[in-house]
Amino acid sequence: MISVTTVLILVVLAYFYRDYFTAMPTSNPLVNTQGEDEKPVVEGKFTPATLVRFNGSDDPQILIAVKGKVYDVSQGASFYGPGGPYENFAGRDASRGLAKNSFEKDCLTPIDQPLDTLDNLSKDEQEALDGWEEHFSNKYPMVGRLNNEN
Ligand code: HEM
Ligand SMILES: *[C@@H]1O[C@H](CO)[C@@H](O)[C@H](O)[C@H]1NC(C)=O
Ligand SMILES: *[C@@H]1O[C@H](CO)[C@@H](O)[C@H](O)[C@H]1NC(C)=O
Repeated sequence: MISVTTVLILVVLAYFYRDYFTAMPTSNPLVNTQGEDEKPVVEGKFTPATLVRFNGSDDPQILIAVKGKVYDVSQGASFYGPGGPYENFAGRDASRGLAKNSFEKDCLTPIDQPLDTLDNLSKDEQEALDGWEEHFSNKYPMVGRLNNEN
């Protein structure tokens, strides 16, 4: 008889076993199994005024900024493209909106004003924002940084 506990233990072991082996090749710098079909990361410099062009309306390339890093979210056009649920963030610094889980316009700093310093966020909001930063850095290529001026 295989008990429920045995099954659970096997499931947990299988989970870590898989993680162990999938993690090995990428952690070995000599074995580069990925990278060949990955787009090169171009370190770009953006200001709020130059970022807004990538809001999905003219150019199919959609960029958003989170904590000063600019991500190419073109693959998520269904989220950020025109008519998408998060289109408000396209071409903009999304940091405050993500931190506060808000699409409110006043979470977006006008593009002719200095960057949001984010220094009045609560601890919870900071943590939410850090979680989003992790999400974006894992999912999308970072293509540059957002500064007040180039
Ligand atoms: C009515 C409430 C909401 C629902 C039902 C909802 C639903 C979803 C769903 C289904 C996804 C896709 C998850 C995936 O497949 O990766 C998603 C992703 C996302 N949501 Fe929401 N959401 C809601 C509210 C919000 C709010 C308030 C924000 C921020 C202001 C937000 C920001 C995002 C972002 C940034 C993503 C990630 C998209 C990506 O991976 O590029 N969502 N949401
Ligand atoms: C998107 O960018 C274009 C310029 O490329 C601009 O004309 C348009 O107003 C912008 N849309 C929004 C919603 O900011
Ligand atoms: C925090 O800063 C933002 C941007 O500077 C501002 O719009 C907002 O009113 C401030 N919030 C509080 C609670 O001070």
